[in-house]
Amino acid sequence: MNNKQVRFGVSLEGDLLRKFDAYLSSEGYSNRSQAIAGLIRKEFVSDAFAHGRAVAGAVTLVYDHHKRETVNRLLDIQHDHGPIIISAQHVHLDHDNCLEIIAVKGPGAKVQALAAALKAVKGVKHATLSVTTSGK
Ligand code: NI
Repeated sequence: MNNKQVRFGVSLEGDLLRKFDAYLSSEGYSNRSQAIAGLIRKEFVSDAFAHGRAVAGAVTLVYDHHKRETVNRLLDIQHDHGPIIISAQHVHLDHDNCLEIIAVKGPGAKVQALAAALKAVKGVKHATLSVTTSGK
């Protein structure tokens, strides 16, 4: 693969460029090239996810562990989706709540289905899915 940096010119409306410059500094980018590359990669991740191609990511859940049916249901769902789950980390957040971070890898649709199934379990207070790719 050719990873040599290539320069190219970009023309933007002044207002859009000002917004872009504000965005890049708020996101911690040090220059426009880095910010544009970040946006392009982000779009490629969304595209891979939308088209069901392989993605990796993390599902995070917060739930009350006193509700045994919640815990059991979350475990059943994870066992049903075993092939796309890499690992799960359990944190005893406080007296009542558990935080679970489930690392996943697989087709976008399957990852989405797992996240949706976990989120729908009664007793889950908060659930997010964060998706990425290796960038290949
Ligand atoms: Ni716990």
